[in-house]
Amino acid sequence: MKLIVAGATGFVGTEVIRQALSHPAVTSVVALARRATPVPANIGPDANVSKLKSAICNDFDNYSESVKADLAGADACIWLIAITPSKLRTMPFEQVEKICLDYTANGLKTMTGISNKPFRFIYTSGDKVNRDETVRPWIMPDYSVLRSRVENHILDFAKQPDSRDAQVCIARPGLIYAPGHMSALTVVASTIMRSLIGLPRVELDEIAATLLNQAVNGIEKETLLNEDLVRIGRKILRSS
Ligand SMILES: NC(=O)c1ccc[n+]([C@@H]2O[C@H](COP(=O)([O-])OP(=O)(O)OC[C@H]3O[C@@H](n4cnc5c(N)ncnc54)[C@H](OP(=O)(O)O)[C@@H]3O)[C@@H](O)[C@H]2O)c1
Repeated sequence: MKLIVAGATGFVGTEVIRQALSHPAVTSVVALARRATPVPANIGPDANVSKLKSAICNDFDNYSESVKADLAGADACIWLIAITPSKLRTMPFEQVEKICLDYTANGLKTMTGISNKPFRFIYTSGDKVNRDETVRPWIMPDYSVLRSRVENHILDFAKQPDSRDAQVCIARPGLIYAPGHMSALTVVASTIMRSLIGLPRVELDEIAATLLNQAVNGIEKETLLNEDLVRIGRKILRSS
């Protein structure tokens, strides 16, 4: 199968690429990002790096013909492009909206128009997102409502006649934990944050295994909560 990983240069994207290169059912991996995606440093002995195609996109509002050609005929996409809470203050909120919502909406629409059927679109959201857009939590209210709008857009899109029966899935991880990949300060800060707001935790390799599994084998359910990501990921990793 041909898999697109959008946001391939990020924290989760790198691990998804690493695992996908060793996955026997994945024959082609298109790494979609605004810059080149390197081969991950810690690939397994069975990894096939010739499967990896880095697709650099300069405009996520209007994909160029060459990027569209790279994406065409895909069977699934794992979408990981977003602004995470730690980077929220680095840009105006309008820019955060554009990247989180507009880029995702255009990616989903463009890909479904040129993909194989069925096309699976796995979106990674966050644990505390409430799909009711009128609910404004006390912590990061604008950002939480934005993530809720993205989830609703994806679910609504899948119900439209022009969605070509796209199968969509929303993954809602809590804190994604990878001690070897995080600074000591980040580990301490995230542990405090986690206990303050009661955020659950999933290991990086677990969520990557789950996202890959849903893309390859089909979507277990429309919304995968943190506990589902842990359960599915652990089962896959134990059996490998
Ligand atoms: N990390 C966590 O603990 C955690 C927890 C819950 C949910 N999530 C969700 O999981 C998803 C992936 O998170 P992550 O930790 O992998 O995030 P990340 O490391 O920040 O990666 C985000 C990806 O989005 C790309 N991106 C950012 N701004 C962009 C722009 N203006 N144009 C094009 N691409 C852009 C980044 O590209 P560059 O590499 O070029 O910047 C990168 O590929 C996100 O939706 C996040 O909210 C993460």
